Amino acid sequence: MNLDIKLRVSNVEKFFPGVKALDKINFAVRKGTVHVICGENGAGKSTLMKVINGIYKQDSGQILIDEKVVDIKNPIEARSLGISMIFQELNYMPEMTIEESLFVGNWPRDRYGKVDWKEIRKRTLALLEKENLNYAPETKLKDLTVSDIQMLEILKAISYNSDIIIMDEPTSAITQKEVEVLFKKINELRERGTCIIYISHKMDEIFRIADEITVFRDGCVVDSRPKENYDMETVITQMVGRKVESIFQKEDIELGEQVLQVKGLTNAGKFKNVNFEVRKGEIVGFAGLMGAGRTEVMRALFGLDEYQSGDVIIKDKKVHIKSVSDSIDKKMVMLSEDRRRFGIIPVRSVRENVSLSSLKKFIYGGRLHADIENQTVEDLCKKMNVKTPSYETSIEALSGGNQQKVILSKWMVTDPDILILDEPTRGIDVGAKHEIYKLMTMLAKQGKAVIMVSSELPELIMMCDRIYVMAKGEITGMLTRDEFTQEKIMAYATATKTQ
Ligand SMILES: Nc1ncnc2c1ncn2[C@@H]1O[C@H](COP(=O)(O)OP(=O)(O)OP(=O)(O)O)[C@@H](O)[C@H]1O
Ligand SMILES: [Mg+2]
Repeated sequence: MNLDIKLRVSNVEKFFPGVKALDKINFAVRKGTVHVICGENGAGKSTLMKVINGIYKQDSGQILIDEKVVDIKNPIEARSLGISMIFQELNYMPEMTIEESLFVGNWPRDRYGKVDWKEIRKRTLALLEKENLNYAPETKLKDLTVSDIQMLEILKAISYNSDIIIMDEPTSAITQKEVEVLFKKINELRERGTCIIYISHKMDEIFRIADEITVFRDGCVVDSRPKENYDMETVITQMVGRKVESIFQKEDIELGEQVLQVKGLTNAGKFKNVNFEVRKGEIVGFAGLMGAGRTEVMRALFGLDEYQSGDVIIKDKKVHIKSVSDSIDKKMVMLSEDRRRFGIIPVRSVRENVSLSSLKKFIYGGRLHADIENQTVEDLCKKMNVKTPSYETSIEALSGGNQQKVILSKWMVTDPDILILDEPTRGIDVGAKHEIYKLMTMLAKQGKAVIMVSSELPELIMMCDRIYVMAKGEITGMLTRDEFTQEKIMAYATATKTQ
């Protein structure tokens, strides 16, 4: 018996149809520490966290709290045992208000047992003010940015005063400033003796925040050590089971004619006078701080939002894009940063998610050719390295990173001329990131025009021919490959410099 240990996982196994997601997992989390779990997409990280949070029941093995075996049947029981969790996939209801989402399942009651809305309003206002979130409590979640929704989830999980807080990729959608806020909170929690289990694919983050690191691979624990005894390279090698180059070498690709030109695009309040162009075979980056308006511009191009003025010219023809199908017709597609809301079709299979947006391709002679559909889906998913038990598996059963790869495959079937990739490697493990970079290179070689929005400067610098930088809804600068440095980009991104 070790009183220092708060949570122990002992020989836990979990099977899904066709997959052994967890294979006799053993590890322990000490009181007042941040325990980071690393592993490739599909390694079993989220599955174990869901077992600990009572969403899944393990098939064998035990969970112990304070060295006593507990049987956690559901998340409410988990909470009463002092466990709370921030989920990897933002699973919010768009119509819910901020105050409802903060207190759902945990409503304060008045002395007659009725939900105490006055109290809810009061506490919500206090929290929003304390955290500098400038929203009214009755704002609907669909009107918030992804980063604010994620920040609210974080604040909510912390507000339960749990002993164990699980954070499954908490920073995948928040701004750098918010990351600092989160890390400060984590440090305070650690001081108070709270345990944090922290999952992330971001190596720099991991090494900043961890006390201990456990590496998962294919449902097994590979190794577990205090941070001091680890270095990045060892972690990565253990994760993928082989050495991975940390640098991707961009190939020189000859550029063709201009495919897309955007002139003076404006949507009041979101972006203003946006001008840029992309050529065949070119990878054009969009850098900027979160909230700079990059996603908004891309959404307008893809027909998800309207724009008020300005011109979009595709292959020398002026077009007006009013809907997503307009955009797809013009052979322009977009991978969205919020895959829950715009990416996946939740209850459908992997196959359907890949093929549904291009069924026309598989229909001729009035008949759907399932064999060709299946072959196409299989080829693409193999190329993308999608890890799934079968193509008939529901997409929701895939790990976060693998869902991202499925959505990319979906757009590949449509054989687009212009691809807009908004945060394409978010939530993707180091090995698979390389697959995506390779794929982008291949697409550029085929003469496609690629737009890459990313918050990770190193990958923009590595992959792009040119980078546009946005700040406060406007393009503040454009850099060519020989001019790329993080400092220059940041100067434009913070609008301390404009061209
Ligand atoms: N509900 C489910 N039904 C069937 N299979 C599942 C389910 N949830 C997860 N799996 C499978 O279990 C394995 C582990 O998935 P898990 O989500 O735990 O991975 P992860 O390590 O969190 O990956 P990522 O970094 O991509 O989030 C994967 O092969 C996944 O497809
Ligand atoms: Mg996961």
